[in-house]
Amino acid sequence: MSKLLLVDDEADVLYAFQRNLASPEIELTTASSGEEALKLIPEVKPDLVMMDVRMGGINGLETLRRIRQLDSKLLVILMTAYGTTQTAIEAMKLGAYDYLLKPFEVPKLKEIITNALKAARDMKQVVSYQPLLEEEDYEQGIVGRSEAMQQVFKLIGQVAASDATALVTGESGTGKELVARAIYHHSNRSSQKFLAVNCAAIPEQLLESELFGHERGAFTGATLQRIGKFEQCNRGTLFLDEIGDMTPATQTKILRVLQSGTFERVGGNQPNQVDVRIIAATNKALEQAVAARQFREDLFYRLNVVRIHIPPLRERRQDIRLLADYFLKKLARDQQRSPKSITSSALRAFDRYHWPGNVRELENAIRRALVMAKGEAILLTDLPGEISGQSTSASAVPVPGASGEGIPSDVAPLAKQLFQWARREPKLKILPAIERELIIHALKDTNGNQVHAAKLLGITRATLRKRIEKFGIMRELSIK
Ligand SMILES: Nc1ncnc2c1ncn2[C@@H]1O[C@H](COP(=O)(O)OP(=O)(O)OP(=O)(O)O)[C@@H](O)[C@H]1O
Ligand SMILES: [Mg+2]
Repeated sequence: MSKLLLVDDEADVLYAFQRNLASPEIELTTASSGEEALKLIPEVKPDLVMMDVRMGGINGLETLRRIRQLDSKLLVILMTAYGTTQTAIEAMKLGAYDYLLKPFEVPKLKEIITNALKAARDMKQVVSYQPLLEEEDYEQGIVGRSEAMQQVFKLIGQVAASDATALVTGESGTGKELVARAIYHHSNRSSQKFLAVNCAAIPEQLLESELFGHERGAFTGATLQRIGKFEQCNRGTLFLDEIGDMTPATQTKILRVLQSGTFERVGGNQPNQVDVRIIAATNKALEQAVAARQFREDLFYRLNVVRIHIPPLRERRQDIRLLADYFLKKLARDQQRSPKSITSSALRAFDRYHWPGNVRELENAIRRALVMAKGEAILLTDLPGEISGQSTSASAVPVPGASGEGIPSDVAPLAKQLFQWARREPKLKILPAIERELIIHALKDTNGNQVHAAKLLGITRATLRKRIEKFGIMRELSIK
């Protein structure tokens, strides 16, 4: 549950908020003046403050200034019916998280509040990266005992203490955001803000303005001057997620901030100086993007000062059971239930599966299985077909030829074994040997029907014929 403090001297506004925002996830407290808000904050410890600018007594800006002396990272959104550029700028300079003009539409307001509360949680929930052993530690942590994760923990510790830029890489769902937050929480900027920008989620034209702000009239619709995330986050840490998706123009601007700490707002020519620590993340192979000239090489080197690569889950299988246990306990706690157990056949399916969605997929699989499980334990049949290997649904049937998708989960370990064999017998031509075996199997299985056999193998009939000839397969089949 998140706590929201609403400060406004008009009873109508307080009432409207209460009516529109009442939900089990939000606990709303109200104050009718800046003075009252300042008294309530240490008591209530809100996650987010929404405050009117014009109030009797001390106004919103002055209240914000005093809040900053109490707490340097409490998120405050200012609201006013009388928008002037000057107040907006001043509010943001004082470290407001956002600035809103009344009246606002309820859905938009809810979206802003949801985003702000997520940002507040990211700043508050300390991510620990030491191996979690105690049950009480099952709060927010990076779980992993594999060699690869130990290496990640070491790097987090080393980089956290410095102000160096860090680049976190890894497939989707491997925990890049979690690592970024762990760095922040253990850095000497942890009492300052941590803000995240997802470079892929924001339309290209808006991203620059989101990052650097804009001057009034910079483009159609820019009716007010706006402060961007770099200015909002001054002295703090900015997490640039999906950095591989930035346009060349934005890349150039980011490079400049990294080199000189300066930038201009969109449509402006006044350089602004900021002190922001950058942590970037991507699931793209940036080296390849550099080679293809889609990503600036100089920016890549600037970001890559410290590189933390998180390997996919299938390459650190010893973490799977540990993570499964962690999520079982964590989800049980969230749902205020006693944790269910998991059968060994289900665990073995976890061990075999190739986890294309990595830790996120594992977490979701457990979440779903908890819903499916009727008794006290998660059974193999409670798992999605692609994980259990019991192809009950149409989507779990392997689709030959589709790249990666639908490939049975045990292909990866099988290929690994075969490869070991190739290593031991360097003279063996492994690929043709496997191909030949597979073709023989397919032909036997289809009683020599080449159309069906080709379909099973995911190749055309013409290709199959060529292979049969090349490997001299028919002779062998007819002998038997
Ligand atoms: N080692 C871990 N221990 C505990 N939880 C983890 C771990 N790795 C990932 N998670 C959890 O898995 C989910 C996905 O992690 P996260 O969002 O950090 O991934 P990501 O790499 O940023 O993915 P994407 O590239 O899709 O944005 C989160 O709920 C996160 O808490
Ligand atoms: Mg992410």
